[in-house]
Amino acid sequence: SPSDPDLVERARAAKEKLGDKVFVLGHHYQRDEVIQFADVTGDSFKLARDAAAKPEAEYIVFCGVHFMAESADILTGDDQKVVLPDLAAGCSMADMATAEQVAECWDVLTEAGIAEQVVPVSYMNSSADIKAFTGKHGGTICTSSNAERALNWAFEQGEKVLFLPDQHLGRNTAVRDMGMSLDDCVVYNPHKPNGGLTTEQLRAAKMILWRGHCSVHGRFSLESVEDVRARIPGVNVLVHPECKHEVVAAADYVGSTEYIINTLEAAPAGSKWAIGTELNLVRRLANRYADQGKEIVFLDKTVCFCSTMNRIDLPHLVWALESLAEGNLVNRIEVDKETEAFAKLALERMLALP
Ligand code: 13P
Ligand code: SF4
Repeated sequence: SPSDPDLVERARAAKEKLGDKVFVLGHHYQRDEVIQFADVTGDSFKLARDAAAKPEAEYIVFCGVHFMAESADILTGDDQKVVLPDLAAGCSMADMATAEQVAECWDVLTEAGIAEQVVPVSYMNSSADIKAFTGKHGGTICTSSNAERALNWAFEQGEKVLFLPDQHLGRNTAVRDMGMSLDDCVVYNPHKPNGGLTTEQLRAAKMILWRGHCSVHGRFSLESVEDVRARIPGVNVLVHPECKHEVVAAADYVGSTEYIINTLEAAPAGSKWAIGTELNLVRRLANRYADQGKEIVFLDKTVCFCSTMNRIDLPHLVWALESLAEGNLVNRIEVDKETEAFAKLALERMLALP
């Protein structure tokens, strides 16, 4: 839907008043009405790298979700303030791993006598606390665009990986990209004693996957892949690695949001694509390439927007920008110093991956 022209004008005016003092970052899943004001757009890896690209900007307005704003705070200078236009923009996957649960898991691994062999690899989609846990225990962060490199690095440091919080990204990377078997993976359920696993299972596993998932990508099904192939002959199925293993195994291409964009940009006219990722991005790409004769459809009509990404809308962005332009620092995301130090260690290990 077209954005309210009055709000568009107000956002433009507030941004102009702020000038170089503000730097607006936008994740690919953001609404069109918001993404039009982003100075930089990207997947979570690109945004983590770009967050520190404008040290002269006093305010970083993060159009994305809470864990991304935390990461931006960790990676930028103390004098740069990160603002999340709606504090309710969280991530259900990140909420599936709490600091207490992860500490308890580490105790279980210690009891089983394997903690020393385990390297934690945490997906970017996790709280700063989980990133700090990861840094403290010699691990790294990864995103969907570098998960294989992160796992290769981790297996040089130890024999086993604790992958959290997205079981699907962990399994898909291990099995699809690195040739491990499904039997090399076990799922640790934080709601069960001992994670629902026996000591033997923990000792035999190479990949200990946290039982978390994305509430958007987790809903694409194998049937949706089969249906679209029957409906659109010759269609290329391209999905995000947060999808279930059976969906990824049935797809033609798998990758992060940035990969999806680049693949469609390079696709020839006349090609047909079914995309399994968040709806705002798929719609934007379908519109962008419609006049080049690239047919782009959403993989499954029962899957919807990411509701928390969608919390950032034009009214919230206008409110944040106008507040900043008037000198009111609103909705600042600030990670405490101790958490920041260890989380930064883990994030810097990721940024240094070969
Ligand atoms: P990427 O942008 O890194 O592919 O991440 C997808 C996602 O779910 C972000 O919340
Ligand atoms: Fe979290 Fe999934 Fe939404 Fe990304 S798309 S913010 S992983 S719920």
